[in-house]
Amino acid sequence: MSEANILQELEQIKQAGLDALASLENEEALQAWRTAHLGRSAPVMQVFQKLGTFDATLRPQVGQAANQVKVALEGAFNTCSETITAKALAHALANEKLDVSLPGRPIAHGRLHPDTQILRELYRVFGEMGFQVYRSREVETDEYNFQMLNFAVGHPARDMQDTYFVDAGERGDNPIVMRTHTSPGQVHAMQEASATNPQNPPPVRIVLPGMCYRYEQTDARHETQFDQIEGIAVGPGITFTNLKATLSDLARRLFGQEVRTRFRASYFPFTEPSAEFDVECFLCHGEGCPVCGGGWLEIGGCGMVHPNVLRNGGYDPERYSGFAFGLGPQRIAMLRYGINDIRYFWENDARFLEQF
Ligand code: DAH
Repeated sequence: MSEANILQELEQIKQAGLDALASLENEEALQAWRTAHLGRSAPVMQVFQKLGTFDATLRPQVGQAANQVKVALEGAFNTCSETITAKALAHALANEKLDVSLPGRPIAHGRLHPDTQILRELYRVFGEMGFQVYRSREVETDEYNFQMLNFAVGHPARDMQDTYFVDAGERGDNPIVMRTHTSPGQVHAMQEASATNPQNPPPVRIVLPGMCYRYEQTDARHETQFDQIEGIAVGPGITFTNLKATLSDLARRLFGQEVRTRFRASYFPFTEPSAEFDVECFLCHGEGCPVCGGGWLEIGGCGMVHPNVLRNGGYDPERYSGFAFGLGPQRIAMLRYGINDIRYFWENDARFLEQF
């Protein structure tokens, strides 16, 4: 091959490569071009491989020319590659753009059950008044649930508390029951305290929260399971005035200074005298509405601890007196939030729960 021929051929190789490059549109075509024009068997590479066959005087010149062609093709390739990458990016930006104005996906926040919220508020308020929280069992004996609280076996007052019995074999007059109220905790707490110093038992000032169970015909104000918060204060010289003050103050702290309260004489075997404690419905201000019924919502019972109960707890009724109360936190939550049916609390319907 003559010098002129090979140099001409190299020029054609370069031109063919540049022409082919000009029409490329995408990355794939670009890689194919690279293999064809700069790969092992590309024409310019073959010239290098054949270099040894040229006349020794020609070699440097051909080598140099081939190298220039290779460099020119590589340079053109790089420029074209950049252009294609930039075009692809512009295309992607135009077509796959994120709408940053779309609202994000909300994160679902956990929250406390409304009953828990009310209970915690009650602990806080009672805590401020000096009451400690005492926890007592939910499965009780008849002895503690009733007898120690002055409900004799067969006493008609038991009818107010339709009871679930736990199947525990023949236990005579002392069957196992699901507690129907938190009041048995009063006796446990007094016994525990008086055991520390039987001759001079220390004063007791506690609240007892927890679940209670009754075989109820359910309606808007009655459920088969419900929370109560019991309170008891025992010490020398405690009076009914202390009871009234404590519960009235509680109502004011929960519902505001203006709220009106009412004590109605009532009967419980474990207190004497006994009363029901009502709070004016602040939805209707005593007019009467579907939530309260007659303008007042009964939120619990209360009274002076019966001498027999004090004695059962290890306290001498000649030296000690005390008051007790049992409130329904759900009733309080109903009043607070305008909930018109107690059955919502344990239905676990998220549409209800998410409102609190
Ligand atoms: N244990 C009663 C009930 O569930 C409520 C109650 C009334 C509790 C008077 C008391 C009380 O401590 O003094 O119906």
